[in-house]
Amino acid sequence: MQRVAVNLKARAARYEILVGANILPTLGKEIRACVGAATRRIALISNQKVYDLYGEIASQSLRGAGFDVNRWLMKDGERHKSLRSFEAALGFLNQSGLQRSDAVVALGGGVVGDLAGFAAATYLRGLDFIQVPTTLLAQIDSSVGGKTGVNLATGKNLVGAFHQPRLVLIDVDALRTVPPRELTAGWCEAVKQGASGDRRLFDRTVRLLRSGGTNSRQWLNNQRSQAGVCATIAAHCRFKSSIVAGDEKEGWARNDSRSRRILNFGHTTAHALEAVTGYRRFRHGEAVGHGMLVAGELSKNLGMLAAGELESLREAIALCGPLPSADDIDAGELIKAMQADKKSVAGKISWVLLESVGKARIVAGDQISGRTLRTALRDGLRAAE
Ligand SMILES: NC(=O)c1ccc[n+]([C@@H]2O[C@H](COP(=O)([O-])OP(=O)(O)OC[C@H]3O[C@@H](n4cnc5c(N)ncnc54)[C@H](O)[C@@H]3O)[C@@H](O)[C@H]2O)c1
Repeated sequence: MQRVAVNLKARAARYEILVGANILPTLGKEIRACVGAATRRIALISNQKVYDLYGEIASQSLRGAGFDVNRWLMKDGERHKSLRSFEAALGFLNQSGLQRSDAVVALGGGVVGDLAGFAAATYLRGLDFIQVPTTLLAQIDSSVGGKTGVNLATGKNLVGAFHQPRLVLIDVDALRTVPPRELTAGWCEAVKQGASGDRRLFDRTVRLLRSGGTNSRQWLNNQRSQAGVCATIAAHCRFKSSIVAGDEKEGWARNDSRSRRILNFGHTTAHALEAVTGYRRFRHGEAVGHGMLVAGELSKNLGMLAAGELESLREAIALCGPLPSADDIDAGELIKAMQADKKSVAGKISWVLLESVGKARIVAGDQISGRTLRTALRDGLRAAE
């Protein structure tokens, strides 16, 4: 098992991310070691699908460590990451009789993690929170960094809080049951992390994808490649936590190559693609896959990125698996959606572009002409065909 230590100097906080195969049965013991003897009750939040697969193992392990366990299963799907579910989660914490010394455990993908984390951040003004992410995206990205929240009808993640977990436990065996499209979406986010800030991480991710493809069962049945998956996921957690440690709350005025904003590489186009297709055609990570190709084209056309580097990015995204087609979507609609995005500051879009794979540069949207943007959209959205 790998232990990744996360230090948030600004608030003198520290926690660990544990990564390993078949470590879910140690959940209770690991939580007990970090919260101490005073914690009596654990509120476990999951959904039916994930609970049916992993809930009993988690609950047994928690009970074995002396915790009383109450559980609540939210409905599955992004549209349930809502104020309504949030209210239901708070009702559950209240009915469970949770006290300040108790803790919330999220068992599931990013949807469960974001909602349970927000409930933990706000109930009794903040309870200890433990993440047990079960999708690839949640394991490399959403469980690390302390962003929690819910969607409003008018947009994603508009309400939330920064609330760092006390512990993140990543059992890579959970990836055995993750559907192929969810894995592709997760790998796209992995490529994004490497491409935006760490060349070695990018190369390591590409090597893993080249050797094993995206079929998680294939790697997890082989001990050597299982170790490679654990090491790669741990490296992603280390990367994300290093960025977060330097810029926990994503300062909007920061635009250097270590700011949290670089993690939005590919997201300007991705959010627009999701919005204009009513959040139905793409998994978020798949939209990020297209978005990175558009940002890559822009970077090349602005003379920042060498053609060979764009080719490496293209190859990496292709290795993640097939993306739903996007070249039928009207560029004008996409540009309108970009302007309405919440990530725009003072009504201006900013772009995370690349100087090279592993080095991002944030560029103000008004430095990019409409024509250049349209060309990049056309070529980038075709590139994944
Ligand atoms: N907090 C952050 O920093 C952050 C970062 C990135 C994304 N997010 C959020 O994460 C969410 C997306 O997360 P996601 O991609 O994990 O989606 P998700 O939570 O919807 O999970 C995808 C699907 O996989 C199922 N599932 C989960 N684990 C499984 C397993 N082991 N086996 C089989 N099925 C499993 C889920 O029930 C769901 O149907 C979005 O809401 C996004 O906004 C948050």
